[in-house]
Amino acid sequence: MCGIIGIIGKGEVAPLLVDGLRRLEYRGYDSAGIATLIDGKIERRRAEGKLDNLVARLEEKPVQGTIGIGHTRWATHGVPNETNAHPIATPRVAVVHNGIIENFQELRRELSELGYGFQTQTDTEAVAIMVTRYLDEGLSPKEAVGKTLHRLEGAFGLAFLFAGHHDLLICARRGSPLAVGYGDGEMFIGSDALALAPLTRRIAYLEEGDWAVLNGTGVTVYDAADRKVERVVRETAVSGALIGKGNHRHFMQKEIFEQPAVIGDTLHALFNPTTRSVHLGALPFDLATVSRITIIACGTSFHSGMIAKYWLERIARVPVEADIASEFRYRAPEMPEGGLALFISQSGETADTLAALRYCRTQKQHIAVVVNQPESTMAREADIILPTRAGPEIGVASTKAFTTQLVVLACFAIAVAKARGSIDAAREAKLSSALTEIPSRASEVLNHDEKIQAIAAALLEARDVLYLGRGTAYPLALEGALKLKEISYIHAEGYAAGEMKHGPIALIDEKVPIIVLAPPDDLFEKTASNVQEVMARGGKVVMISDEKGLATMGERLHFGIPIPPCDPFVAPILYAIPIQLLAYHIAVLKGTDVDQPRNLAKSVTVE
Ligand code: AGP
Repeated sequence: MCGIIGIIGKGEVAPLLVDGLRRLEYRGYDSAGIATLIDGKIERRRAEGKLDNLVARLEEKPVQGTIGIGHTRWATHGVPNETNAHPIATPRVAVVHNGIIENFQELRRELSELGYGFQTQTDTEAVAIMVTRYLDEGLSPKEAVGKTLHRLEGAFGLAFLFAGHHDLLICARRGSPLAVGYGDGEMFIGSDALALAPLTRRIAYLEEGDWAVLNGTGVTVYDAADRKVERVVRETAVSGALIGKGNHRHFMQKEIFEQPAVIGDTLHALFNPTTRSVHLGALPFDLATVSRITIIACGTSFHSGMIAKYWLERIARVPVEADIASEFRYRAPEMPEGGLALFISQSGETADTLAALRYCRTQKQHIAVVVNQPESTMAREADIILPTRAGPEIGVASTKAFTTQLVVLACFAIAVAKARGSIDAAREAKLSSALTEIPSRASEVLNHDEKIQAIAAALLEARDVLYLGRGTAYPLALEGALKLKEISYIHAEGYAAGEMKHGPIALIDEKVPIIVLAPPDDLFEKTASNVQEVMARGGKVVMISDEKGLATMGERLHFGIPIPPCDPFVAPILYAIPIQLLAYHIAVLKGTDVDQPRNLAKSVTVE
């Protein structure tokens, strides 16, 4: 996911642009650049790779200027090199872009026939040259951009800087979020509030189809039909503090170790310790009337949704469907009016999940979102916001967002069960007290970090890794496999343990470690027999269970990771931590870029 920043300032903007790009690094990128105006002329500095390369370029050849735009690029069209790095420019206009222009080839052909040449492989260049063409025809910058936007198909966030215009920036949003920031005689553009936090806290989010014309004192916003509109200016709650790693080596490690605290913060907002009951706050409809729940998400967030499905079916006795957003949105199923569609997203900006949310709106569903960014697009389009209080999650691999999603979803399942009368006060108190023990139990699990690091070293040469689980441990097996794949680049697969005999057991040999998640629930015995079957065939098993569960396996077990005793209801939250640590340590030993793994972005805002 690319990052965009723009500043119409009073002082030199280059250092502020770079600082803003640093706050956008977490989104994942493979090149970066800025453009400013010097005596009316567009001046660019761009570099392939990490932001430090751009900083070095600027130290070699500084740029002045009190107006500029900046960009971190996650390549979609065109290899990640300096030529394709943004800002993309002609002598008349520079542009930065997040998203995909789907009809760029058609536009390139039209412009080439008009005699315009292309220097890059990017889709963005078609936008820069289309604006230039309209400027060459005598249109003003505002008219040129307005006309160009009507020619574009696809999803984009765009920001434009114009030669000769020291007090003008134009930006546009269609599918990729953009915020406008208000300063004191200065104005800002950012992909999100985090990028603008040190510059201003007064933010207005553009809505779908909006575009905006900024000067140093204000902004005029137009909707997709070019009508002037007003957008709410709010005080953002996003902290301006540049998030550091503390004494941790990676953001991912810091965020794994923050889990006891943020799980506690999230629980504290949803659970009343005096009455020992869950409270979701005032809801716009009665949960008792919910006849069916559809859970939709992507990646790790989908895995927490799968676990919620088990909880809601078992505790709230309500029919639940869970699907990945990229499939659901094209299945476009009929949905019973008045159902509840529940979306789970750390960023609140994932394109497929957002598209699925908008489809469910057309199906007259109640819309609830579990998000870590309460000012995100999904949050702004929901009927109910169930916030995780994980704090900014910088590591691309999601960890604390996942466990705090589970805390919110567990409380939500209890609330739905209570509303439907499928649990009494005693059962609610038992389930809730299991939740309140999680922060301290999670700290105990983190004490096994060194043991897990040693196990990681023993698995380093694995060609493939299988993760197995049953019940709520099955989505955890999928999550464990995803964590390992996405940061260590080792192939891994999560499987329902009961499916082993239907094929995967043929994979078992000494080169394929098996990670078995076996919480002390009613399926433990069945999972334990799967472990015996695997060990009998020479498989190297790492079993994650409580002490009692590990003891039943005897000496043949290669490795055991002991988890404190806990109610099976909350086991998924605890058992997530060792699979995060295992993936983390294997990746560190392999020397991969743990916080920004290759090819990945923190939030996938393009399809
Ligand atoms: C998880 O480690 C990945 N970073 C990825 O699967 C992520 O969970 C997915 O892209 C969904 O993102 P979201 O929660 O921001 O919607």
